[in-house]
Amino acid sequence: MKRQFIREILDVITKDSISFAGGLPDAELFPVEAFRRAADTAIADPSSLQYSRSQGYGPLRDKIARRYSDIGFETHAEEILITTGSQQAINLIAMGLLKNGVTVELPAYLGALSAFRLAGVAVDGIALEEDGIGMEHFARSIAYSKAAYLIPDFQNPTGISYSAEKRRAIAELMQQEGALLIEDAAYSELFFDRRMPAISADMPHDSFHLGSFSKILAPGLRVGWIRASEANIRRIMAVKEALDLHTSTLDQRIIDAYWQNNGLEGHIETIRRSYEAKKCVMAETLRTLLPEFEFNEPRGGMFIYGKIPGIDTKALVGRCMERDVAFVPGSEFYPETGALDEIRFNFTHTDFARMQRGVTIIADCLREGSC
Ligand SMILES: Cc1ncc(COP(=O)(O)O)c(C=O)c1O
Repeated sequence: MKRQFIREILDVITKDSISFAGGLPDAELFPVEAFRRAADTAIADPSSLQYSRSQGYGPLRDKIARRYSDIGFETHAEEILITTGSQQAINLIAMGLLKNGVTVELPAYLGALSAFRLAGVAVDGIALEEDGIGMEHFARSIAYSKAAYLIPDFQNPTGISYSAEKRRAIAELMQQEGALLIEDAAYSELFFDRRMPAISADMPHDSFHLGSFSKILAPGLRVGWIRASEANIRRIMAVKEALDLHTSTLDQRIIDAYWQNNGLEGHIETIRRSYEAKKCVMAETLRTLLPEFEFNEPRGGMFIYGKIPGIDTKALVGRCMERDVAFVPGSEFYPETGALDEIRFNFTHTDFARMQRGVTIIADCLREGSC
């Protein structure tokens, strides 16, 4: 199986590189001291070092379920399965449930494409429009696949968010078709103005809503979850058990202790404000220093996506990487041949000074015409 180009880029990036490539959170915002205290609390109880239930640590599932209910999406702890990152959630569903293939957005989240490929699940890609997936093609695709994997909030890679109308139309259509929704909410908490309703809330029995602590606490802990009906949770538990028995007990207990001691809301709000400021500076830097790049500003998430018309961005990134600057060419986000002139920039990982320097180098590479 071919490795993802993006993982290869990440392998050669050093601490001196300027990387707009990975979906890396800002490490400056990791709540290190609070984690240290939470780890002390967790480890003081030896059961946090023991094997534990496949479905996940009860008190953590309770907290996640309560948080859903608090925003009007009624959920109880038996409807939560803790996963080893939301990446594993995609693997579990792909391996356990998808028989006729799956409908995905184009461009698509690379990790999902890899998971579907690994499980031998055929993907049918439907182009994204400014307010979400193109409905006409989506309807045709769903009639056959009976399953869709969507990222309705600040999609990776495009940053696009679905309109309220499209969300409702998708839930209605999928229920008519008896289709299964896999709603990846990896970026849903990172909104700059308001939370959008989950599509899954309109079809709670036929959906898997995927959450993760990676973007709101720290990805190194590798803890995510699935919210689904009890019947659907049971359908994938056997796959979870076969893959890793359960997610790290200690990591779950650290997150639970952190949440118990600090709450979550204050920290998530700090991340939202910081990322919004970074997005504004990155957008302004791109407009000023790289005016050839055409893009819409996202209203949340971690990415700015757009294109430099007529430019082969894979060749461009090769030249930029010789000068230690990285981004992801858009062609990587298409299962087959995709648009050659698109680019995804991550804006959360780099500080303001390096943003300026990085975009200046990309602009120099472009204008030197050697790309
Ligand atoms: C859309 C999307 N889903 C899932 C993941 C995987 O995240 P996790 O760290 O929870 O496995 C990512 C990671 O970047 C992502 O962008």
